[in-house]
Amino acid sequence: MPIVVLVGFMGSGKSSVGRKLARSLGATFIDSDVKVEERLGMTIAAAFRQFGEMYFRKIEAETIEHLLTTENAVVALGGGSLEDEGTLELLRGQFVAYLDVSYGVSMARIKGDPNRPLVQSEELESRYLRRLGSYSKWAKVTFDADRLTTEQIATALLGQLREGSDL
Ligand code: S3P
Repeated sequence: MPIVVLVGFMGSGKSSVGRKLARSLGATFIDSDVKVEERLGMTIAAAFRQFGEMYFRKIEAETIEHLLTTENAVVALGGGSLEDEGTLELLRGQFVAYLDVSYGVSMARIKGDPNRPLVQSEELESRYLRRLGSYSKWAKVTFDADRLTTEQIATALLGQLREGSDL
């Protein structure tokens, strides 16, 4: 089981926080998007174009199932992965940290990113709203990703992990 699993919408800072935290912990940082791209042999944007979102979600869920068995790791999950029921089940018992970003701040951070195919989607805000419930429901700890820097979140999370165990 990973030390911590980072969840939150696109642009919440999961990868930056995860990288910093893993470095402090001497753990491995794993980004589910990177693993999915490795498995597909193409970028996420290309996979959406060639095979569609449903296929991407299937590979994403399978990849995450495997990642959630990895020891001594900090794992960041793609922002849409919690829409999968199977993935939610696997998060039971994991130490889930939620990086809570507002829709406006997320958009300001990710607009124009060519490797995030959903940025152009018209119903992105309704996806955001739909996901909020799952993020907070599964979170053991939540951080305000609008106000806090990734450095501050990583430091606070490290403190909480150390408090709760002998890390
Ligand atoms: C997605 C988020 C992305 C990536 C894909 C779809 C989403 O990950 O998995 O573009 O549905 O919100 P990040 O949250 O790491 O950007």
